[in-house]
Amino acid sequence: MFDKLFKVIGIFSEALRDAVLFLRFNSYSPWVDKSRRAFYKIIIEAHTIEKGLSLPNPKLLFGKDKIRFVMNALSRYDIQHSSVPAHMSLGALDAYVNFHARAGASDPLLDDISRYLKAWEAKLPRPWKGGTRDYSFNGQPPSNLQHLMASRSSIRTLQSAPLKPELIFEAISLAQLAPSQCNRQSSRVHAYQDPARIQALLALQGGSRGFAESVGNLFVVSSEICAWGGPGQRNQAYVDGALFAMCLMFACRSMGWGACPLNLAIDHKTESAIRRAGDIPAGERLIMMIAFGEPVAPDTRVAFSPRRPAAEIVTFHA
Ligand SMILES: Cc1cc2nc3c(=O)[nH]c(=O)nc-3n(C[C@H](O)[C@H](O)[C@H](O)COP(=O)(O)O)c2cc1C
Repeated sequence: MFDKLFKVIGIFSEALRDAVLFLRFNSYSPWVDKSRRAFYKIIIEAHTIEKGLSLPNPKLLFGKDKIRFVMNALSRYDIQHSSVPAHMSLGALDAYVNFHARAGASDPLLDDISRYLKAWEAKLPRPWKGGTRDYSFNGQPPSNLQHLMASRSSIRTLQSAPLKPELIFEAISLAQLAPSQCNRQSSRVHAYQDPARIQALLALQGGSRGFAESVGNLFVVSSEICAWGGPGQRNQAYVDGALFAMCLMFACRSMGWGACPLNLAIDHKTESAIRRAGDIPAGERLIMMIAFGEPVAPDTRVAFSPRRPAAEIVTFHA
């Protein structure tokens, strides 16, 4: 009896400490080093440019405000912290200018970007690791794990044709090889192929604007909360669920499909709305969505999304 009471109190007190920790270290916190916060902010905004360019039909002069923001923020950023945001932004801006040159478009913004890039060339010489890159589904299917990992990318140019359910089951079975705590296997996957329902779910998600119409196959990955108990396990649904989702994306790649993870960084109200739209039980925590399907063409363009040098993220401890 007391044991259970302590657990309930523990859940509230841990939730409070979670909130304090988040407030202290989140991206708006004035107590976090400015360069560290700027690093993430610039990457996030530069990603919207590279992502826009990786859509099936990028709109001319999209994201003007974001572009001005990225240029201003990068000018204030201390590149000594890490050159990755600079590479990503300059590469994205360069790709933006080239895209408009190919389309024969002109605008004062494009002239401003060109001047801005010229000024940066002396500080950080080309080639910049950013923008978009060519991606091919042609050739041998991934033959080993390294090849599989290296050949996965978020694909936003998908065919809307529904895939055969038996193939989807095959991909899910592969993803079930993901490890889980005590082999709980609390992950659940909801698969959708009805266009109207997919559009309703994607409208609630919001991160697939520009390619939502082409999504004909959609997963919502979730995790059963009843697999977990006690304050220490409050976040484990996300840990096991994310590992499963990663394996599911690799499984999609191994089937020769394109896939794009879609965030569910949402509040309870939206989570409930998605549960209702997707007919998902109340006892499941939503982890993420994955749009998937045959690629529109074997050769496509994807966002570059460069990775940090490993030395920037590793700490070797004695
Ligand atoms: C949890 C998660 C949520 C994501 N949400 C979105 C999204 O809402 N829309 C989108 O287009 N891409 C989304 N992405 C894809 C990322 O932008 C992409 O993984 C990142 O830029 C790295 O590129 P890559 O997947 O091609 O290696 C998401 C990725 C993850 C892991």
